[in-house]
Amino acid sequence: MNAEVPRRRRDRGPKGRAVEDKALADVRELLGSRPRRRDLLIEHLHLIQDRFGHLSARHMRALAEEMRLSQAEVYEVASFYDHFDVVHEGQTPPAPITIRVCESIACMLAGSEQLIEALTASVDPADVRVVRAPCVGRCATAPAARVGDREVDHATVEGLRHMALEGMTEVVVPDYIGLETYQVRGGYRTLARVRSGELTPEAMIETLQNGGLRGLGGAGFPTGRKWSIVRGFAGPRLMTINGDEGEPGTFKDRWFLERDPHRALEGALIAAHAVEAERIYFYMRDEYPAVLHILRAEIAALEAAGIAPPGFIELRRGAGA
Ligand code: FES
Repeated sequence: MNAEVPRRRRDRGPKGRAVEDKALADVRELLGSRPRRRDLLIEHLHLIQDRFGHLSARHMRALAEEMRLSQAEVYEVASFYDHFDVVHEGQTPPAPITIRVCESIACMLAGSEQLIEALTASVDPADVRVVRAPCVGRCATAPAARVGDREVDHATVEGLRHMALEGMTEVVVPDYIGLETYQVRGGYRTLARVRSGELTPEAMIETLQNGGLRGLGGAGFPTGRKWSIVRGFAGPRLMTINGDEGEPGTFKDRWFLERDPHRALEGALIAAHAVEAERIYFYMRDEYPAVLHILRAEIAALEAAGIAPPGFIELRRGAGA
């Protein structure tokens, strides 16, 4: 048996090895008992980015080792997304606070260009990093920005600076209709009718077709027809909800999910029942921290109430356009 030591490891001295071992220990501690499945790579990269504020080369190497992936696979995913800060050996990590200012059309028309310039000139880059961002879904209150996880409407230089200097970077969750209120108002009764067989998939598909409901993904595909086609395929069937639309106008997704999330969740559970999907993947923009917070809480509430089986709805976090 060839007991050759991999070249990179052999070239590292005792100090280098200690650094690598520490990185592996960091990654193991962060991942805890979470599965090491490759489809969780983005989620695991988020854990490292959230804890350390960036993705160092040694942490990415350790993650590759822990997940039994090649370093190239980890690197190409990490470097593809805007919210991951890949830091190579010898590079300086980003400042501890990041302010993202939207530069898409609504915000540009509202003066975001001048805002970015003035803000960049007014902060110490060692403390605060100013980054240009695509639409953050707050077009109606342009110019929009984000300080850490705190979303900001009608952003000004003074306001953003103040928040950054005072460490006001936590997510602010708006008031919304939670599970109890939604149920008091009649929520989840339709799902119960569907699950009891009172409303059959065929009847629902017919209603959708007669109603002319179409998807909003660009193709305008008829929803009823889609459900009927999916039901025609052999299982397993999986459902994906794309909450990562990012162009101006798609702020409607944020608006509805921040106010009445169970409408989307009940609709998803009804659709999953109709097409006999085994699991729902809810992929949500990382640009919407409040929505992510709400969905996490409300999916847990659905599981606790026995409305959704544990793990049936998997929330997956995007990582920036
Ligand atoms: S264009 Fe700036 S938030 Fe949409």
